[in-house]
Amino acid sequence: MTAKKGLLHWIDERFPLTSTIREHLTEYYAPKNFNFWYYFGSLALLVLVIQIVTGIFLVMHYKPDASLNASGIPVAFASVEYIMREVPGGWFIRYMHSTGASAFFIVVYLHMFRGLLYGSYRKPRELVWIFGVLIFLALMAEAFMGYLLPWGQMSYWGAQVIINLFSAIPVIGPDLSTVIRGDFVVSDATLNRFFSLHVIAVPLVLLLLVAAHIIALHEVGSNNPDGIEIKKKKDANGRPLDGIPFHPYYTVKDIVGVAGFLIVFFAVLFFMPEGGGYFLEYNNFIPADPMVTPPHIAPVWYFTPFYSILRAVTYPLFGIDAKFWGVVAMGAAVIIIAFLPWLDRSPVKSIRYKGPIYKTALTIFVISFFILGYLGVLPPTPGRTLVSQICSVLYFAFFLLMPWYSKIDPCKPEPERVTWK
Ligand code: HEM
Repeated sequence: MTAKKGLLHWIDERFPLTSTIREHLTEYYAPKNFNFWYYFGSLALLVLVIQIVTGIFLVMHYKPDASLNASGIPVAFASVEYIMREVPGGWFIRYMHSTGASAFFIVVYLHMFRGLLYGSYRKPRELVWIFGVLIFLALMAEAFMGYLLPWGQMSYWGAQVIINLFSAIPVIGPDLSTVIRGDFVVSDATLNRFFSLHVIAVPLVLLLLVAAHIIALHEVGSNNPDGIEIKKKKDANGRPLDGIPFHPYYTVKDIVGVAGFLIVFFAVLFFMPEGGGYFLEYNNFIPADPMVTPPHIAPVWYFTPFYSILRAVTYPLFGIDAKFWGVVAMGAAVIIIAFLPWLDRSPVKSIRYKGPIYKTALTIFVISFFILGYLGVLPPTPGRTLVSQICSVLYFAFFLLMPWYSKIDPCKPEPERVTWK
């Protein structure tokens, strides 16, 4: 026995190393017909690692402190400027993290869209999907709290607007928003608790959820662009006929995705790290000032579709403020995604075999989502509010009418085996 084999044997007797590698990599049989859309799961993992590693380095220099320094600048804001100007490579780490936040949402939105294309949320992958929606919620909380930390004008006023929303909840609302802030206004106490949650609590939850997401996926096996179960057709050794070992085939394929992603990511990072004011808003380069409200407060782009849904609700109901129903609509817009496995009654999973009704519904849904996102960055006008109301109705209609239209949609028959050219 060579020294390497001897060491492996020693470890395996104490820890399931080889069997884990087999189960999740070399003998995890993934469908052979994965396409472009299957890059985004591994890319989401990559961005998660980028965020954690750059975050660790940022915390070495960042100070969560709202008090003013000798120059009258908040210490937190000044510490970010110090990272950008004085810390060697600090600008690179900071931009990796701030541009990384937007990259995370782009990758995760595309990853979720793949689910809609191929019906990946359907039986037996309901839990994979639900863990995914929980990841999405945790990611939104993580990004929201991270944005407060540079303590710029948008950090401050964005947090002010969003935390105030909670006060619209009847009975408990005002106390709840005070608990979230830790004060009656956004202050040093808010900055400290958001720092703690952003750096420790939410990342921990996120990592656990991602582990659960992948464990659940490997339990049932991956879906594929044809939406048929490869486990139904196995060879004499019990291996799926249309499956190939994840390693080396998909590890190599995913490296191609990683290379492509990094080219685009670094191009943005080096040439337009603020994303034209969409990734880091221009107002956030001004230190937070509780005495000066910016003329227009808008959340970062990845929240704007949901923010538009919130603003679209303008009527009070049952004697309760419209703001409360806006919050309910915004929350419902995310939660409803978790119910997709039970809303879709189509006999087939993949869009390849679904009929024109689903294809039209998905197209209208995506267009509405983009319009909502666009309107969410603009100040409201009566015309824009009307358009957001129409798009919000279309957004919810996609889900709520699905049990009906997915049933009557004329679908094509699924093939026996995966199609692969
Ligand atoms: C931090 C965020 C996330 C990470 C790191 C992550 C990671 C992964 C990975 C590595 C895979 C397997 C590779 C692949 O199929 O692309 C996967 C599959 C999947 N993910 Fe995620 N995911 C994340 C968020 C989400 C979200 C937000 C949803 C949906 C709400 C979701 C739904 C799914 C589904 C349905 C599959 C199975 C797809 C299939 O087999 O066709 N994921 N995820």
